[in-house]
Amino acid sequence: MAKQLPHTLLLRHALFCSLIFTQILAKSTTYNVVNFGADPTGLKDSTLAFLGAWSNACGSWRPARIQVPPGQFLLGTATRFGGPCNNKVISISMGGATLVGPSDYRAIGEALHWLTFDQVSGVRIHGGVLDARGGSLWACKSSGQPCPIGAITLGITNSNNVVVTGLTSINSQLFHMIISGCNNVQVHGVKIMAPGNSPNTDGIHVQFSSDVTILNPRIRTGDDCVSVGPGTKNLWVEDIACGPGHGISIGSLGWGMNEDGVINVTVRTATFSKTMNGFRIKSWGRPSNGFVNDVHFEHAFMSDVQNPIVIDQHYCPYYTGCPQMASGIRISDISYKDIHGTSATQVAVKFDCSLKHPCRRLRLEDVNLTYKNQVPQASCRNAGGTAFGTVQPESCL
Ligand SMILES: *[C@@H]1O[C@H](CO)[C@@H](O)[C@H](O)[C@H]1NC(C)=O
Ligand SMILES: *[C@@H]1O[C@H](CO)[C@@H](O)[C@H](O)[C@H]1NC(C)=O
Repeated sequence: MAKQLPHTLLLRHALFCSLIFTQILAKSTTYNVVNFGADPTGLKDSTLAFLGAWSNACGSWRPARIQVPPGQFLLGTATRFGGPCNNKVISISMGGATLVGPSDYRAIGEALHWLTFDQVSGVRIHGGVLDARGGSLWACKSSGQPCPIGAITLGITNSNNVVVTGLTSINSQLFHMIISGCNNVQVHGVKIMAPGNSPNTDGIHVQFSSDVTILNPRIRTGDDCVSVGPGTKNLWVEDIACGPGHGISIGSLGWGMNEDGVINVTVRTATFSKTMNGFRIKSWGRPSNGFVNDVHFEHAFMSDVQNPIVIDQHYCPYYTGCPQMASGIRISDISYKDIHGTSATQVAVKFDCSLKHPCRRLRLEDVNLTYKNQVPQASCRNAGGTAFGTVQPESCL
């Protein structure tokens, strides 16, 4: 049996532990971007100051904190916050700060991302507003003049263990946010806003990533609220408000022959307001060896949604390279449970699957949609599965 430690020794031990603890806290070094020359009035470009703070934080052997104080900061060029870093905890606090993009869209319009975190691990971003000022690029696009495709506002790429909380993104040039090539990314309480007619301003796009969790996003934008690309595994989306926008979309998949599949996606508790789609899976009508398995859409309220439930395997918007072809994407084990509300069109449920690879094991349970206070329609092509409980429109599976 261990001898009891004398009281003084215990006390000293406790003191020693608390000393170590405060030392660890003290050892988290803070880098304030203003000390690196950032201008909180937004007049002077602060890109180099942000990069200076980043390279110090990333080079630090202890946990590091980057402080962006309240104010407006101009980041006028495409900026990469790259790793690998010497430590595994870099937290970036941006509460009260707005980062604005260049006034001339061409300054970042050809870059893939305006801001990217690439090859990092353990980065936490709290608060802040990202305003890419995409409006002038959208105007260029609608004028029919040649214009750049635009930059994605925030890229989280090739990274692990990243947390983004309470961030707001407004008026992106292209997508607001992309998570690509990552493992374990948590996105909590983000707000995304752009006009309903702004082109290609998807909210959050996830691809080639596993274990991504998106909780409580509020998304009003011109394209998909959340879009899911090839190579997505274990994606969880919960408590999402979407609209205006194009809904939640898996795809477009299957443009290429060799493509990674999408597996294990759950979207739980969603409200859609006047969106183009609710839950959509779409693939190009082209040969491919990709797949979509194990997807669960549950607890949703749809308000005036054009296509509340839709699988479209004949996606071919420009009628070149795909018409009349069967999609190679194999779709199976897709469930829709507890989905209520109103459809803005007569066909509220549409499963238009591939002739070559019919959809398998689709499951409808407790679905009740109405169209102009009447019972809408369901349409099925090459779709197999079962219905449980109340299902209105009547299942065509
Ligand atoms: C599916 O993904 C969720 C996280 O989104 C995870 O908790 C669950 O274990 C995964 N299921 C399988 C079978 O891998
Ligand atoms: C579907 O919902 C409508 C409106 O809430 C309701 O009147 C109708 O009885 C429901 N249909 C079924 C089959 O439960």
